[in-house]
Amino acid sequence: MSVIELASGHAMPLLGLGTWQLRGDECTRVVQMALEMGYRHLDTAYNYKNQVEVARGLQASGIERGEVFVTTKIWPDALQYEQVHRQFAECVEQLATDYVDLLLVHWPNEAVPLAETLKAFDEIAASGRARSIGVSNFSPALIDEAREVASAPIVNNQIELHVGNVDTALLEHCRAHKVAVTAYRPLAKGDAADDAVLAAIGERYGKSAAQVALRWLVQQGIVAIPKASSQGHLRANMDIFDWALDAEQMQRLG
Ligand SMILES: NC(=O)c1ccc[n+]([C@@H]2O[C@H](COP(=O)([O-])OP(=O)(O)OC[C@H]3O[C@@H](n4cnc5c(N)ncnc54)[C@H](OP(=O)(O)O)[C@@H]3O)[C@@H](O)[C@H]2O)c1
Repeated sequence: MSVIELASGHAMPLLGLGTWQLRGDECTRVVQMALEMGYRHLDTAYNYKNQVEVARGLQASGIERGEVFVTTKIWPDALQYEQVHRQFAECVEQLATDYVDLLLVHWPNEAVPLAETLKAFDEIAASGRARSIGVSNFSPALIDEAREVASAPIVNNQIELHVGNVDTALLEHCRAHKVAVTAYRPLAKGDAADDAVLAAIGERYGKSAAQVALRWLVQQGIVAIPKASSQGHLRANMDIFDWALDAEQMQRLG
């Protein structure tokens, strides 16, 4: 699995499994299947209400915890100092782990000072229970504020990003400050699979429109976390690393 290096020095796999809306036994089964297939990165959140099932899938796969990059997120109604600590403790308990690889602020909440939230994040990072910390759905101005008040590096901004939905200024800002970008909804909730331009490009490589959409992201060093629930989709989404789009195609899609 291809990885990028985060500003914290840790490696993050460029492809992960998004788990939003995966619940119950289906979640456990899909996580297990993905890990057995070679996925090494799981994206969950307190708010997804599936961390117990994600942990069950990991355990059922027999793959060592240390082999898998696990991201979770603190919901915006719990960004007060004490609340962060409380919700994070619940996350690691539900995930049946001592640590997460990446802890994110799920969405900003202007009612809570970022300094207060990130003080708790810093403490969690310093204790080793989060290997890296970051944010999600943050603007350039909020990223600057987070970088200013946090002691640990803000290594990641998880944002909605897919072909046809690109915020170039935000991407450039992240790049300039070594904030890796994770693209959520990288398949536009599945709509990318029906995109005629992506399909036409894919035909030349024997790949699907969805695979082109994901390749376009990872080829830019952007982490992609497609959610998939069938074996076919999981496998297709992994098959994006041994071929490349040409410069003209990359530019056309961007
Ligand atoms: N930080 C945030 O605020 C935030 C917000 C939203 C999402 N996220 C994260 O991002 C992840 C992904 O986003 P998302 O779930 O909204 O949307 P997505 O990954 O863009 O799309 C998921 C949809 O695409 C379909 N699909 C997957 N692989 C496919 C393929 N190869 N060909 C055709 N269709 C395919 C899936 O169908 P099947 O299920 O039938 O396979 C599902 O319906 C989430 O699961 C979550 O982890 C984060």
